[in-house]
Amino acid sequence: MEFSRKCSLCAFLLFFVLLFCNNEVNASHEVFRKLQSLSTNIVRNLFRTGFHFQPPRHWINGPMYYNGIYHLFYQYNPKGEVWGNIVWAHSVSVDLVNWINLEPAIYPSEAFDKYGTWSGSTTILPGNKPVILYTGIIDDEQSQVQNYAIPANLTDPFLRKWIKPDNNPLVVADQSINKTKFRDPTTAWLGQDGLWRMLVGSLRGRRGLALLYWSRDFMKWTKAKHPIHSSADTGNWECVDFFPVSLEHTDGLDTSSHGEKVKHVLKVSLDDTRYDYYTIGTYDTKKDRYTPDETMVDGWKGLRLDYGNFYASKTFYDPSKNRRILMGWANESDVVPTDAINKGWSGIQTIPRRLWLDPSGRHLVQWPVEELEHLRKQKVEIRNYRLNKGEKVEVEGITPAQADVEVTFSFSSLENAEEFDPSWADLYAQDVCGFRGSTVQGGLGPFGLLTLSSENLEEYTPVFFRVFKTQDKYKVLMCSDASRSSVRNHKKMYKPSFAGYVDVDLTNKTLSLRSLIDHSVVESFGAGGKTVITSRVYPALSIYNDTHLFAFNNGTETVRIENLDAWSMDKCDR
Ligand SMILES: *[C@@H]1O[C@H](CO)[C@@H](O)[C@H](O)[C@H]1NC(C)=O
Ligand SMILES: *[C@@H]1O[C@H](CO)[C@@H](O)[C@H](O)[C@H]1NC(C)=O
Ligand SMILES: *[C@@H]1O[C@H](CO)[C@@H](O)[C@H](O)[C@H]1NC(C)=O
Ligand SMILES: *[C@@H]1O[C@H](CO)[C@@H](O)[C@H](O)[C@H]1NC(C)=O
Ligand SMILES: *[C@@H]1O[C@H](CO)[C@@H](O)[C@H](O)[C@H]1NC(C)=O
Ligand SMILES: *[C@@H]1O[C@H](CO)[C@@H](O)[C@H](O)[C@H]1NC(C)=O
Repeated sequence: MEFSRKCSLCAFLLFFVLLFCNNEVNASHEVFRKLQSLSTNIVRNLFRTGFHFQPPRHWINGPMYYNGIYHLFYQYNPKGEVWGNIVWAHSVSVDLVNWINLEPAIYPSEAFDKYGTWSGSTTILPGNKPVILYTGIIDDEQSQVQNYAIPANLTDPFLRKWIKPDNNPLVVADQSINKTKFRDPTTAWLGQDGLWRMLVGSLRGRRGLALLYWSRDFMKWTKAKHPIHSSADTGNWECVDFFPVSLEHTDGLDTSSHGEKVKHVLKVSLDDTRYDYYTIGTYDTKKDRYTPDETMVDGWKGLRLDYGNFYASKTFYDPSKNRRILMGWANESDVVPTDAINKGWSGIQTIPRRLWLDPSGRHLVQWPVEELEHLRKQKVEIRNYRLNKGEKVEVEGITPAQADVEVTFSFSSLENAEEFDPSWADLYAQDVCGFRGSTVQGGLGPFGLLTLSSENLEEYTPVFFRVFKTQDKYKVLMCSDASRSSVRNHKKMYKPSFAGYVDVDLTNKTLSLRSLIDHSVVESFGAGGKTVITSRVYPALSIYNDTHLFAFNNGTETVRIENLDAWSMDKCDR
């Protein structure tokens, strides 16, 4: 039994390595038949990204840094296209860009995880000893317990093998907890009192919770009387992440850091809407309670790490570069099972992002890790270029389907900004982008980039700003609008007008934008990373060399491209 399970895992691993390291997958490999669609190679490779990590499916577990190596663990169904049979797949990297795929670190095998090994986190214990906390599924009803695993051999630089000791599970649900909603333990942190703490996401009625557990030895855990935080009517909390950020600098902090110049961030993945929300607040270490700052919205209208296809993200502290890094899962939007886009893979990881607290304290800032810049190749520049209303300029000389582009726009006045209708204040930014998109001409904006665009704009994914005037200030909307991304006309294809507001000072009358464009994904960072949006799109015309990239303006106020730098991006190893 054990042997055959192992064997089949090897076979699936082989599938993974082939599909993701070799573009020319040979359809004659029998073992993969079930996993491959009937489509041709071309279709399967069509939307494959060039420089994103592509796991076959589902969400990310605790990434970590250990002795010079980054480890990425992610949820993976080795049996193919439907969600299920979830194992902890494992890839390693020295630069967060190129990856080596290893065998799964954890897979169902014991009474405490026989029905599934779901998400969790890693913690580095004193003495430089990594430990994984993860959710085990113990029955057909999906009852959940919290387990741990440790490396079998600490001198193996890749930590390939993980052991699940016999004293598992570490934590089971007590009477007050619905054991089918009890999952995704966080990275643990150490209090000044010498107790370890970790959180487990849960739900009571409609109230989302982060249950708090204490332990002196990491083995025996006691539930605190109160959750560290909860919020009414938010539904089940998944993949909770709780970490400190500095008020003084942009360096990352170890998860156990605390003190006067430290704020805390609580991120929850809301199962109901499937977005990642966060608040910034104060962690009272004596009472073990977290309180969001007064300016924070604690729920569905709150701040999001990313206003697009982005879920189940996790951060980790990278001591080698003193930074906190965020990775998240961007799922597919081509939801038609019978479509030719049945490509044999599903889901990608967003580019790892460094993350820190904005000096205003009102939101986080994210920026692609600097290592990504090693993939930059051919470069083109545009300087000091005027864009009058209705004009656009093509960015030529790079591969626009696989590119990194940074642009700063300037304008001479805010006078022309359109009025923000007070009734829109109750709407999501996404709704406003839905009816004030790139084709609705404006005052100051819409201006930005037209990514993954066909030559004559039959399809394009515009990433742009619209500046609005409110009673006493300005409001900047940033959109990444997939509604015209593909001339394919499948009713079920998900083509949302993703959007968020950008909390940016316009005194200098400039707005900057960076987009990472990679065949079926556009990851955009507004105003230096104050607002981030990831869109998954599946163009029919603007593919490979038929793809174009433009900068455009559709507002009455003339805007100027101060600088535009764009690079062709190389492929990464994975
Ligand atoms: C542990 O890993 C090291 C380095 O890969 C290897 O040399 C050693 O044989 C391993 N030990 C065991 C017990 O597997
Ligand atoms: C626990 O959650 C499951 C799944 O949502 C639900 O069907 C069940 O009724 C809940 N049980 C209790 C005791 O609330
Ligand atoms: C994934 O994609 C579908 C549309 O295809 C969407 O409805 C869903 O909310 C997305 N996100 C997650 C996290 O599943
Ligand atoms: C700019 O506005 C015009 C007029 O509404 C529209 O036809 C055109 O598609 C818009 N440009 C973009 C890039 O959306
Ligand atoms: C405006 O520009 C100046 C000079 O480049 C810079 O020092 C300042 O930080 C900028 N202010 C804002 C709000 O961006
Ligand atoms: C795209 O253009 C590049 C450079 O001109 C060329 O090397 C490559 O073969 C082209 N690819 C396709 C798929 O046409």
